[in-house]
Amino acid sequence: MCRPARRTYSAPMTGSANEHDTARSTTPIDLSRETPRGTARDQGQPAGTDPIDAVDAPSSLSGLNNPGAVKDLSKESESYTHGHHESVLRSHRRRTAANSAAFLLPHLLSDMTLLDVGCGPGTVTVDLAERLTQGSVVGVDASDDVLESARGLADAHGTRNISFEHANAYELPFEDDSFDVVFAHQLLQHLSDPVAALREMKRVAKPGGFVAVRDADYEAMAWYPESAELTEWNMLYHEVTHTYGFEPDAGRRLASWVRDAGFDPATIEPGASVWCYATPDDRTWWGGLWAERCTQSNFAVQAKDSALADDVALEQLAQGWREWAAAPDGWFAVLNGEVLARA
Ligand SMILES: C[S@@+](CC[C@H](N)C(=O)[O-])C[C@H]1O[C@@H](n2cnc3c(N)ncnc32)[C@H](O)[C@@H]1O
Repeated sequence: MCRPARRTYSAPMTGSANEHDTARSTTPIDLSRETPRGTARDQGQPAGTDPIDAVDAPSSLSGLNNPGAVKDLSKESESYTHGHHESVLRSHRRRTAANSAAFLLPHLLSDMTLLDVGCGPGTVTVDLAERLTQGSVVGVDASDDVLESARGLADAHGTRNISFEHANAYELPFEDDSFDVVFAHQLLQHLSDPVAALREMKRVAKPGGFVAVRDADYEAMAWYPESAELTEWNMLYHEVTHTYGFEPDAGRRLASWVRDAGFDPATIEPGASVWCYATPDDRTWWGGLWAERCTQSNFAVQAKDSALADDVALEQLAQGWREWAAAPDGWFAVLNGEVLARA
């Protein structure tokens, strides 16, 4: 399939925060491409055979080895798309049990044991532990740095019924039937085999215990004012994550993955909820952190390593985020899929 050139241009920035009622056609960003809908997985193909991967490399990058092809990553070496740059942690640290696990809270009893898989900096994990006053919580993550941050948070809160361990979601270091609740927030979108991870979560949950997962759906994100740069950012995000074998539109697939992992369909409760950023403070925070993530996080590294964007293009996307944040009528919604099931 013939697709336009990748984002490897160096035209000057144009447009301003006041020009936001139409997409900025004066920028060099090419909006003629289809928004990527559906992935290789949907079409019964292995990830990486999606037409999205079949573009020609620009001549300036033709020396790269097979740019755009799916990376050959074992589950042990999967590279978390965002990494843990400060701009990423700034995003995760806003998360609480109330704004990220509301679908689970009515089911918690104070003496339950809970495992949080891919706990990141642990704000949701600590919050959950503080609700399980007679119970206990374990947070696991594949990153030691972020676990240190989570331990520091628990110490700062004086939360005693919590511990953090290094672990791979595919091989949880726990006996079968260990926890009343096994939770994963914004993890499955970053795994090449989310169904295998769900099977592992089911294994360590007690029979009849809860497995609860929640993930964003990038294709379903919505914003105002229109922004060519944000549209391009969303397309690039899909391309980068598909290149690495991950599914950015995880939210809509959670119930399907949970079924595939062998949960009793009668116990599966699918749902959705939204984060919305529209106040001046929220716009400054969300737009500012994404501006930084476009140029400084692992996402930027992976976009460049995959020859999908260069520094100039990424800076354009960052500028688009800053302009969105500055727009007084700016609004951004993140649709999250969520599923509660019984092991
Ligand atoms: C988007 S963050 C979510 C963090 C946290 N749950 C939250 O919502 O704030 C995803 C986390 O999953 C971790 N992760 C990615 N792959 C993993 C794996 N295979 N096993 C364990 N953790 C993993 C990353 O290190 C990262 O901290």
